[in-house]
Amino acid sequence: MPMLHVQQKMSEANMEKKQENVFLRKSFVAITGASRGLGRSMALQFVDKLPPTSVIVLMARNEQALQSVKSEIVSKTTTVTVLVQQFDQGNVEKDNFKGMFDQILSQNKLSSNDFEQFMVVHNCAVITAASKNVLDLCDAEEVRSAFDINVTGMILLNTSFFQTFSDSSKSRVVVNVSSSAAANPIQCMHLYCAGKAARDMYMRVLAAEEPSLRILTFAPGASDTDMMRGVESCCLNKELIGLLKHFREIGKMTKPDTPISKMVEILEENKFENAVYMESDKVF
Ligand SMILES: NC(=O)c1ccc[n+]([C@@H]2O[C@H](COP(=O)([O-])OP(=O)(O)OC[C@H]3O[C@@H](n4cnc5c(N)ncnc54)[C@H](OP(=O)(O)O)[C@@H]3O)[C@@H](O)[C@H]2O)c1
Repeated sequence: MPMLHVQQKMSEANMEKKQENVFLRKSFVAITGASRGLGRSMALQFVDKLPPTSVIVLMARNEQALQSVKSEIVSKTTTVTVLVQQFDQGNVEKDNFKGMFDQILSQNKLSSNDFEQFMVVHNCAVITAASKNVLDLCDAEEVRSAFDINVTGMILLNTSFFQTFSDSSKSRVVVNVSSSAAANPIQCMHLYCAGKAARDMYMRVLAAEEPSLRILTFAPGASDTDMMRGVESCCLNKELIGLLKHFREIGKMTKPDTPISKMVEILEENKFENAVYMESDKVF
């Protein structure tokens, strides 16, 4: 077959692949930051969509909060297996993430062969030092810790995930929870903006190196979670606090379920371009 035809066929196959609802396949799904806020909402909405015998792993530091999300899920569904994995994304000591998913599989008598699709949702992130201006950032530990959680830990966890789920003939999906802060310089959100920008670019490189992955970079917009309340209570940027107050007054501060329903719709449609920034609602 001439080269041009081969390429055309491959691109048609890619288009078909792109359009298949990601929730149709029996999946192994890991969601970071699943103990509250947007991650909790994802876990609750994903289990309604995933086929029976899929496995969803809820990940965060607070095991009790994860167990409580698990109980919420189990009370409404019995078809998807819910696992809890306590982890600290900021603990980037050597080998902390290595083999984590191999261990989850073996501890639960599972094999990657049991699944048709693997999905990792990088939702965990923190906003730190928002009570400081950018030129007050002089504590190396503070700066390092923000990047450990938001960037380094996310990258190491992603590597660990794809070391375990390395079969590129199967569908593999990454969701990168981004923010408008990745592209907009918001005063007092220095470390967060820089970390989110780094994550988005990391995902673009991942997409370039691994075209078989489907990578959704999705910004949820302003949503009423602990993270947002933390900003409202201690951020030095009065203009931002005023804007968030205004969002609350006009109903633009969403409940977590709203942007996550949008995310689910995007994943169902599966027409997004790999690692291209998409937002639930333009906020800035
Ligand atoms: N809310 C918004 O308006 C908004 C807007 C744009 C983007 N986002 C993005 O959406 C994502 C979720 O935000 P959210 O508002 O739901 O935040 P949140 O309510 O603060 O929840 C953060 C989640 O991350 C976990 N987490 C924090 N530090 C961790 C660590 N060191 N190791 C492991 N897990 C950790 C927390 O659980 P534990 O404390 O139990 O570890 C929690 O489950 C973030 O990526 C955020 O940047 C949010």
